[in-house]
Amino acid sequence: MHSYMRSSSSLLLFSFIILVHNAIASDSLFNFCSNTNYTAGDAFSSNLDQLFFMLATKGQPTGFALGTVGYGQNKVNGLTLCRGDVKPAACGTCIRNSATQLRDLCPLKKSAIVWFDDCLLRYSDLEFFGEIDNSDTFYMWNVQNVSDYSTFNNKVNELLNEITLEAYVKPSLFATGEKEIKIGGGEEKLYGLVQCTRDLSGEDCKKCLDGAISQLPSCCDGKRGGRVIGGSCNFRYELYSFYDV
Ligand SMILES: *[C@@H]1O[C@H](CO)[C@@H](O)[C@H](O)[C@H]1NC(C)=O
Ligand SMILES: *[C@@H]1O[C@H](CO)[C@@H](O)[C@H](O)[C@H]1NC(C)=O
Repeated sequence: MHSYMRSSSSLLLFSFIILVHNAIASDSLFNFCSNTNYTAGDAFSSNLDQLFFMLATKGQPTGFALGTVGYGQNKVNGLTLCRGDVKPAACGTCIRNSATQLRDLCPLKKSAIVWFDDCLLRYSDLEFFGEIDNSDTFYMWNVQNVSDYSTFNNKVNELLNEITLEAYVKPSLFATGEKEIKIGGGEEKLYGLVQCTRDLSGEDCKKCLDGAISQLPSCCDGKRGGRVIGGSCNFRYELYSFYDV
């Protein structure tokens, strides 16, 4: 299956990428790197190692962790989030794999973020906790269209808004939901998922998800499946079950 992605970021030039999405779960979906550098073997680098270790240890049991290591110029802030339905063992594996891959994807970069199906990992020399990340965003969609665009788009919008209202009042800032819909003369089931990083307040989570959902027309107009994925929140919908709750 081919998924198409579009990215926009203040860190990178606008880019358009065709991703050959294969079945290997350990492939990253996407990443962004800053253009600021550290030096191999310096204090920042060893702080980053410690941070990755700490995030994997703290993140595995609960699915979320944030932390800071070091002082002054060498200080590094980081955050990890597993998808809300991912079990601890798989969550830990995903975070450790993210850390390894992020070193390769963004070598010697002072800020970076990588997304996988099961988790995201982000670090920066800049402070970012508790702020909605509006710059690291990308889309994924299924190339298959539905026949009745407008009814379908409305249902997708409805479902994502409903589960956003559930998610933002929960400590997990995560919700899934399903809806029977009629398309192409038959009944199908629509599945949705929304999630925010838990450094956000409930209010900011809602704001973040509302912003992501408002990008549905540019991301996923009439598409059988789609995702808007950012550094602070994301949604996904499909006409098949893709989560385990
Ligand atoms: C960081 O390193 C890259 C690759 O060596 C270089 O092109 C870039 O100019 C550096 N960025 C800064 C801000 O120094
Ligand atoms: C889906 O719709 C888009 C836009 O109308 C079109 O460009 C594309 O070829 C369609 N895809 C398929 C698989 O029919």
